[in-house]
Amino acid sequence: MPIFRLPFLLFVLHSVGLVVASRNSSSWLTLTGNAPLVIARGGFPGIFPDSSFASYQLALNTSLSNVILWCDVQLTKDGAGICFPNIKLENSSDISSVFRNSRIYLVNGQSTRGWFSVDYTLDDLKSVYLMQGIYYRTNKFDGNRYNILTVEDVAIKLKPPGLWLNIQYDAFYRQHKLSMRSYILSASRRFVINYISSPEVAFLSTIAERFKGSKTKLIFRFLGSDEIEPSTNQTYGSLLKNLKFIKKFASGILVPKNYIWPVNTALYLQHHTSIVSDAHREGLEVFASDFANDVVFSYNYSYNPLAEYLSFIDNGDFSVDGVLSDFPVTPSAAIDCFSHISNKSSGKAMPIVISHNGASGVYPGCTDLAYKQAVEDGADVIDCSVQMTKDGIPICLGSIDLLYGTTVAQSQFNSRSSNIPEIQETPGIFTFSLTWKEIQSLKPAIRNPFMDYNLFRNPAYKNAGSFLSLDDFLAFAKSKSLSGVLISIENAAYIVENLGLSVIDAVVDALKKSGHNNQTNQKIMIQSTNSSVLIKFKEKTNYQLVYKIDEVIRDADKASIMDIKQFAHSLVIRKSSIFPLNSAFLTGVTKIVSKLHSFNLTVYTSVFRNEFVSSAWDFYSDPVVEINSFVMGAGIDGVITDFPGTAIMYRKNRCLNRGDNIPSYMRPVQPGNLFQAISAEYLPLAEAPSPVLTDSDVAEPPLPHVIKKPSRSGPAASPMLSAWSPIAAPSSHL
Ligand SMILES: *[C@@H]1O[C@H](CO)[C@@H](O)[C@H](O)[C@H]1NC(C)=O
Ligand SMILES: *[C@@H]1O[C@H](CO)[C@@H](O)[C@H](O)[C@H]1NC(C)=O
Ligand SMILES: *[C@@H]1O[C@H](CO)[C@@H](O)[C@H](O)[C@H]1NC(C)=O
Ligand SMILES: *[C@@H]1O[C@H](CO)[C@@H](O)[C@H](O)[C@H]1NC(C)=O
Ligand SMILES: *[C@@H]1O[C@H](CO)[C@@H](O)[C@H](O)[C@H]1NC(C)=O
Ligand SMILES: *[C@@H]1O[C@H](CO)[C@@H](O)[C@H](O)[C@H]1NC(C)=O
Ligand SMILES: *[C@@H]1O[C@H](CO)[C@@H](O)[C@H](O)[C@H]1NC(C)=O
Ligand SMILES: *[C@@H]1O[C@H](CO)[C@@H](O)[C@H](O)[C@H]1NC(C)=O
Ligand SMILES: *[C@@H]1O[C@H](CO)[C@@H](O)[C@H](O)[C@H]1NC(C)=O
Repeated sequence: MPIFRLPFLLFVLHSVGLVVASRNSSSWLTLTGNAPLVIARGGFPGIFPDSSFASYQLALNTSLSNVILWCDVQLTKDGAGICFPNIKLENSSDISSVFRNSRIYLVNGQSTRGWFSVDYTLDDLKSVYLMQGIYYRTNKFDGNRYNILTVEDVAIKLKPPGLWLNIQYDAFYRQHKLSMRSYILSASRRFVINYISSPEVAFLSTIAERFKGSKTKLIFRFLGSDEIEPSTNQTYGSLLKNLKFIKKFASGILVPKNYIWPVNTALYLQHHTSIVSDAHREGLEVFASDFANDVVFSYNYSYNPLAEYLSFIDNGDFSVDGVLSDFPVTPSAAIDCFSHISNKSSGKAMPIVISHNGASGVYPGCTDLAYKQAVEDGADVIDCSVQMTKDGIPICLGSIDLLYGTTVAQSQFNSRSSNIPEIQETPGIFTFSLTWKEIQSLKPAIRNPFMDYNLFRNPAYKNAGSFLSLDDFLAFAKSKSLSGVLISIENAAYIVENLGLSVIDAVVDALKKSGHNNQTNQKIMIQSTNSSVLIKFKEKTNYQLVYKIDEVIRDADKASIMDIKQFAHSLVIRKSSIFPLNSAFLTGVTKIVSKLHSFNLTVYTSVFRNEFVSSAWDFYSDPVVEINSFVMGAGIDGVITDFPGTAIMYRKNRCLNRGDNIPSYMRPVQPGNLFQAISAEYLPLAEAPSPVLTDSDVAEPPLPHVIKKPSRSGPAASPMLSAWSPIAAPSSHL
């Protein structure tokens, strides 16, 4: 019998071996060699009030299956342990409107006014509700009456895979005759505590003996390097030099992330320190804190929070043993789906990644550098928005108005402003008012679509790169392995009628001259919001024609789609035509993508950006969650993006080919779920639904023919407007 079983057994061992090998193919540089941990600080406070039931539940629902829930323990007057993120209860709850008087107490030597748990019993606190404590996060869940939870509630009702208790203020509670030590020791008899952290040496030292040999790990938390540790009277900076001392009472350390990767005041990343290797050498685990998707971390990460996590866990030199995050979905994906990706793995082919003015999130749009970056990032298609110069040269520039994307406002040409309502409502300095040579004398300027939120793109590249003519662009594209180029044409009718220039002829000529017609396999895509432009191309060429619908729509009627099919192969639609929004929450999903697909039209979506304010709350301030939800949840075929690198990174992730076992953090979000969780008094007014596209929206009069006008010095320039001072603040696309 055993003889017959043997091959079967070998087979089983062999396949187990394969699984282990594939999971372990690049073993982790953590202390134990296991994957780093995700520690969810107060659950998921990026969305729900910190330490609320919903916050912890969302963390469990969207994170790695071994996620650790973090609770900041405070003690009530009657000695109960509650999870509350701040020693001052008015921060993150409505206590100041429930109980009249604040108190002043000494907290670590600082006189501090506030509402403190030591003055209230657990019963008193039943009438207090949790609220969002960070002003730039949504307050829409503040009416949900989330109670303050006890530590037991979290341990027993939520049954987390791991529980981490942070004891930030032992000395304060001792002054008030409350003992964290007794609380912790009695709690540890009632439920499993996996980690206990504290920034106080004395506290950890007093419990170290009791937890020796137990499952519970003690972690010393470092605060700012100039802050004084209250029991040793040393700065945290100097304690860091004595890891052997720490090792006497702790098995690990928790440090602010900038201890490991310092960021200078200009927000650039410096070389990493040796803290992680030093601590590992002493046998100490290292956890890093302060991760959140909705802050400006460092320009080096281009607003992609995944890139930041990867630099802590997958940098080739070391890995931290865990990260403390306000958005645990993102490190979960970073660890399981995005780490140890070899650059040979091709990943999925979907979605198609089309740049938006090149990698315009990284460099000024439509410059040589922006296109180089897009190609390096792995974009499938790079794009040129064609504009005409005064001397009739087609060039690539994101806007026909030089005020966006160039330094014209600071140049001698700022008097060439004109007001052309057919093009835009505000006055502009149009490309056709300057010669190509004049434009080349300007500098490119990076666009900052979220300047109103104080979010800027990398200032080091603010004016980097040089402008390209369409010829330059095509020559560059031809030398690269790309699957296509997209050429976008707007304002063609105005330019023909008023300037006597045919953009269409200019594009067709440039393509002929470049040899794209017969020498490359690159697909040529022509995009316009005006059907008459595409119809003209259909007559002359066999390029791929892309119809762009700038308006937000909720549907398209059959007649309009039949019309579109006459002149286009694919469409570009806005993000909110797919997932409609109210107050930046998704309210649902339209059927427009599947409808267009049923007519065999390809659907691209525009425009994706990394900055967290560019996407709905539902996407957790994570640009990859957003892309994934559009691709997996709505079935779009391609993304048009300022940050092609992020979309390519998404496409390479290892979790997409797991069939039915796609983990929660790589599943599309459920549109409307968060919106439905808003209580009645916080519910925003219903918004009028977006219109349905009809064939009258699609039909346009044919393009006028080129009539050579008598030469004149540029288009109607209005001297009245030369005093007008431009503010470059394009509106957000959200
Ligand atoms: C990876 O390898 C290490 C040691 O080589 C082993 O202890 C660990 O269990 C492996 N992990 C997995 C997931 O197989
Ligand atoms: C978490 O998942 C459970 C089970 O699917 C669901 O009932 C609950 O509403 C979810 N909670 C949150 C906040 O996502
Ligand atoms: C609450 O505390 C956090 C962290 O200390 C701080 O950033 C925030 O501004 C505080 N909020 C209020 C309302 O005081
Ligand atoms: C801490 O240091 C300060 C200044 O060096 C000194 O005044 C104070 O007495 C010290 N406290 C303790 C507890 O050692
Ligand atoms: C971050 O970016 C700056 C500016 O581009 C660069 O000088 C620096 O070397 C980068 N930091 C790291 C760690 O790569
Ligand atoms: C893979 O990445 C390494 C390091 O970033 C780079 O030197 C190498 O050229 C890449 N290989 C390919 C095939 O892209
Ligand atoms: C490709 O097109 C160019 C420009 O139209 C033309 O000069 C050339 O002869 C063509 N080459 C081939 C192989 O057809
Ligand atoms: C779409 O294409 C498929 C296969 O190419 C074809 O069978 C189908 O009839 C087409 N549908 C429409 C609505 O054009
Ligand atoms: C589209 O082009 C036609 C000329 O073909 C022009 O009359 C019309 O105004 C253009 N439509 C828009 C919305 O610009």
